[in-house]
Amino acid sequence: TLRPTIAVIPGDGIGPEVVAEALKVLKTAVGEHTFEFRHYDLGADHWLATGEVLNDETLAELAEAQAIILGAVGAAPGSTTIPSGLLERGLLLRLRFAFDQDVNLRPSKMYPGVASPLSDAVLDQGLADFVVVREGTEGLYAGNGGTLRHGTANEVATEVSVNTAMGVERVVRYAFDLATRRRGHLTMVHKHNVLVNAGGLWKRIFAEVAAEYPSVTTDYLHVDAATIHLVTNPTRFDVVVTDNLFGDILTDEAAAITGGIGLAPSANINTSRTFPSMFEPVHGSAPDIAGLGIADPTAAISSMALLLDHLGAHEAASRIEAAVTADIIDRGTTKRSTTQIGDAIAALV
Ligand code: NAD
Ligand code: IPM
Ligand code: MN
Repeated sequence: TLRPTIAVIPGDGIGPEVVAEALKVLKTAVGEHTFEFRHYDLGADHWLATGEVLNDETLAELAEAQAIILGAVGAAPGSTTIPSGLLERGLLLRLRFAFDQDVNLRPSKMYPGVASPLSDAVLDQGLADFVVVREGTEGLYAGNGGTLRHGTANEVATEVSVNTAMGVERVVRYAFDLATRRRGHLTMVHKHNVLVNAGGLWKRIFAEVAAEYPSVTTDYLHVDAATIHLVTNPTRFDVVVTDNLFGDILTDEAAAITGGIGLAPSANINTSRTFPSMFEPVHGSAPDIAGLGIADPTAAISSMALLLDHLGAHEAASRIEAAVTADIIDRGTTKRSTTQIGDAIAALV
């Protein structure tokens, strides 16, 4: 029988370390033989060896997978051998764009006893539990721009934010639907006081779609103020919808306040289901701790629950979620290795 194929791109730095634990837990939840895993050794080493980041043939092969699991790609920020952005744009963003992964879903949840940098006064307000719906294929990430008079004192560098009515509407609609299945509140975050064109489009479409969802309460925050509310009153958020770059920044902050970047999962969803969706931790390749065996694999593991949910295996997804929750609540301040955390969660599935 033909088993569904899952493409696995462990990538760079701690990527392979956390992906190994994610696969361990995924296989524990659904059995060794439910999926066929096909590994792709892409990333820094592959580029150094071949000069290629992702060729069209591999892209076409990935398109046939049921889903993609990604660790992380990217070199240390100061690297002199690998140009900044080469792997990020050439692999990660290429996949998000080529596979039209319009919704970048990033849940954030505080658990009882959470190790949060927030003050007790803020934590006493309750446990924050919200989802950022980040647009995944447009905005400043579109790669629209360039430089004039490169390398001269008169150089001009531009990145143009691309926002389409279709692209904004589908992600806004997704966020409203999600809010109806949660606590019924949706916050739009943008910066329409300055970005009047893109912001104007977002504002208009948000209002139009809101009219179709009378049961969802809505509000709006400029992104700078949103960063304040995240640390002073995070329980006010249920679902947040925002553009690609604002969503990138807010979700690192959201991770930091809800237990750390090592806990934050994400799903890059192709909502039309024409192409595979991709599941990855929010964090990067963490070159500063790569190879030490101390990376927290929880984010990568939680991303497997998002993967199973997307593929309709809700019961197995819930088991992973419950195992992760139990482990997080239990972990206290004990230092454990990457494999110890993976083993502990697998034992709870
Ligand atoms: P990063 O997320 O890799 O690391 C930020 C900080 O968080 C570091 O101190 C790191 O040690 C820590 N951290 C990250 N994940 C952790 C984990 N699982 N457990 C414990 N600590 C963890 O961000 P960065 O340093 O800005 O980026 C490093 C490289 O990764 C860059 O090349 C960047 O472009 C790339 N990147 C890739 C992805 C991706 O592939 N999805 C995402 C973000 C960054
Ligand atoms: C993320 C990362 C990526 C992004 C980078 C590495 C391109 O930071 O997934 O959050 O900005 O989307
Ligand atoms: Mn990011």
